[in-house]
Amino acid sequence: MTGREETATTTGPADPDTSALEADLREGFFTDPPTVPPRWFYDEKGSLLFDDITRLDEYYPTRREAEILRARAEPIVGSSTTIVELGAGTCTKTRVLLDVMAGGADADSRSEARYVPVDISVEVLLDAARSLGEEYPGLEIEPVIADLTALDPPLPGEPGQRLVLFLGGTVGNFGEAQRTGFLRMMREVMAPGDRLVVGFDLVKDPARLVSAYDDAAGVTAEFNLNMLDVIARTVECTGLDRRDFRHEAVWNAGESRIEMWLRAVRDVRIDFPTLGRTRTLAAGEGIRTEIARKFHGDALIDELAGHGFSREALWADEGGDFGLALVVVD
Ligand SMILES: C[S@@+](CC[C@H](N)C(=O)[O-])C[C@H]1O[C@@H](n2cnc3c(N)ncnc32)[C@H](O)[C@@H]1O
Repeated sequence: MTGREETATTTGPADPDTSALEADLREGFFTDPPTVPPRWFYDEKGSLLFDDITRLDEYYPTRREAEILRARAEPIVGSSTTIVELGAGTCTKTRVLLDVMAGGADADSRSEARYVPVDISVEVLLDAARSLGEEYPGLEIEPVIADLTALDPPLPGEPGQRLVLFLGGTVGNFGEAQRTGFLRMMREVMAPGDRLVVGFDLVKDPARLVSAYDDAAGVTAEFNLNMLDVIARTVECTGLDRRDFRHEAVWNAGESRIEMWLRAVRDVRIDFPTLGRTRTLAAGEGIRTEIARKFHGDALIDELAGHGFSREALWADEGGDFGLALVVVD
């Protein structure tokens, strides 16, 4: 798996983030509605804000998923010798699995156990990897800065001995076609016997869903608005000002998803000279910054089966809020 090697982000024309964001804007910002992929939430500030979100009363997914991981850590780790985690962030929840890898029943048989967290959020990933290196001296910790939607084979580790984690409900941030493309790619980069764990949020009372994405303290609002700062700093533009927008989270029942929007509070005109494009928004029009798809029971594991992954286990937390699918490559 290849990734970028740099240890700090830079901006300016030579910055790969600039060309990647320009490409994303070309693709989605001049359509109706304008959209920006959620990866642009996660500069260092955005990643730290997301970490704050995971501790909010309203944001149940992290606690519920951690509950499942704690209860099922042994069968999840099994005899894997490499854990690859996609979109690992601060790697907080993963520690219960690393505890098993480093000290569980099969630990002695894993002479070369390693953990490969993958993320685009450079500082947060490298900080987490440094801490884990100190906490787990017996594990190889190999952070990779890469886009999880475009992984190059081979994945690190012995074919058939890998466990790939995709936690946090991040799978819900893909549109339907993107999710299909992602699962297809995962099947290509994984080998028979490799296992995949996907955490996914379950459909529930819309009021609870909305408050999970629109908390009383306004942390999610700040997380959403921060994306505008990332854009303004990463690509050349004029007229983009966070004070012209407000955060909004809505439940789209037809698509079974929460949508996060940045809604213009006045008429806005944003010029992008390097793109040769202008985007206008009338007051009340919005930019869609995230979708968070919510699934019913077996839907995701059935979809995984259609991509060559056989079901090993499907768990939910006690309250039935969040699901975890464990599948193996046929
Ligand atoms: C919703 S957070 C989940 C973090 C963590 N896995 C958890 O469960 O709490 C999404 C994570 O994926 C990362 N991410 C988002 N888009 C990405 C992409 N295209 N490539 C790599 N990492 C990405 C973000 O930086 C962030 O750490």
